[in-house]
Amino acid sequence: MLRDAIRALAEAKIAPHAAAVDEEARFPQEALDALVANDLHAVHVPEEYGGAGADALATVIVIEEVARACVSSSLIPAVNKLGSLPVILSGSEDLKKKYLGPLAKGDAMFSYCLSEPDAGSDAAGMKTRAVRDGDHFILNGVKRWITNAGVSDYYTVMAVTDPEKRSKGISAFVVEKSDEGVSFGAPEKKLGIKGSPTREVYLDNVRIPADRMIGEEGTGFATAMQTLDHTRITIAAQALGVAQGALDYAKGYVQERKQFGKPIGDFQGIQFMLADMAMKVEAARALTYQAAAKSERGDKDLTFQGAAAKCFASDVAMEVTTDAVQLLGGYGYTRDYPVERMMRDAKITQIYEGTNQVQRIVMARNLP
Ligand code: CAA
Repeated sequence: MLRDAIRALAEAKIAPHAAAVDEEARFPQEALDALVANDLHAVHVPEEYGGAGADALATVIVIEEVARACVSSSLIPAVNKLGSLPVILSGSEDLKKKYLGPLAKGDAMFSYCLSEPDAGSDAAGMKTRAVRDGDHFILNGVKRWITNAGVSDYYTVMAVTDPEKRSKGISAFVVEKSDEGVSFGAPEKKLGIKGSPTREVYLDNVRIPADRMIGEEGTGFATAMQTLDHTRITIAAQALGVAQGALDYAKGYVQERKQFGKPIGDFQGIQFMLADMAMKVEAARALTYQAAAKSERGDKDLTFQGAAAKCFASDVAMEVTTDAVQLLGGYGYTRDYPVERMMRDAKITQIYEGTNQVQRIVMARNLP
């Protein structure tokens, strides 16, 4: 029922704008409005904080179905989870009450600030500093590749509180867009997910109350990694959705397109491609849903399973969307058809929330 409802909403309210959002590289406001109106913009927020209380699998299905229509739009529920999960996992009751309510209502979005210009895969090599000043902290630094920066009101920011201790000297904070000293860089000009703004976040002597720290001092890196264990599954969901969207489109096209006097779908060479695409999508779905169940239960092997789901599903998304372009031939290569956008959008799922090379490091360190 959940899937049917979201698919109907995505097809009616999100898909019709996907090409324009990509072409104009503009924020998918129609999608945000539709998601908020239907309480689907941050479904993971627990009911006690005014949220829908969706479990990890339901959240995956929401993101998957939105991504099937428009990957840029699927970053709204995905990044709202990524940005706020550190608060949900490790924040004080006061922080949860203050920040989850507006998120659940649709009054504010939440972004996640881990990466920096010189700290991507090596996240613990970050330079952003947070220095205590009485009952405040003063933050200085630059965060890069921040999804939905400028649109979000709230930001989970990881910063160094003790430079001697590397990962154990990092703490997490909630920073608000309206805090003095917060500003944003120009939107990055990207290959895909053009509707989702990616900007730098500048922290210039940002003075925030000490109770905005998420969890204990020095636990920020562990919280950031625990968060990614759960949210890499939402990237798998995006990958799954865009792969399904491309497969569905190609499946329809090969029945319409005639060459040599018959639909190209009658040729075994085409059928074999579609069979392989569908097989891979189903395997990615099984791994992703299994990881979502593990996320919900907090299973011990979640770190491996989350990385595996993200890595596998995103590689599948790249293959399947590329094959969909191939099945449409010259038409697939044009912006008159959606599959080239899907192929460009799929690429990021192999890169963000940890490159697929980092996922393999994570899997190798946590073999089941
Ligand atoms: N859960 C809890 N704690 C964890 C953890 C986990 N999964 N992984 C690590 N930690 C903690 C541990 O306490 C560990 O210390 P111990 O020695 O006591 O165990 C400490 O962190 C340091 O861990 P590592 O020694 O493994 O750290 P490392 O420096 O070798 O880095 C890494 C490991 C896996 C490469 C990590 O840096 C990483 O994941 N890099 C990729 C970063 C990333 O995914 N960035 C994504 C940005 S967000 C994004 O892309 C969002 C978007 O736009 C949508």
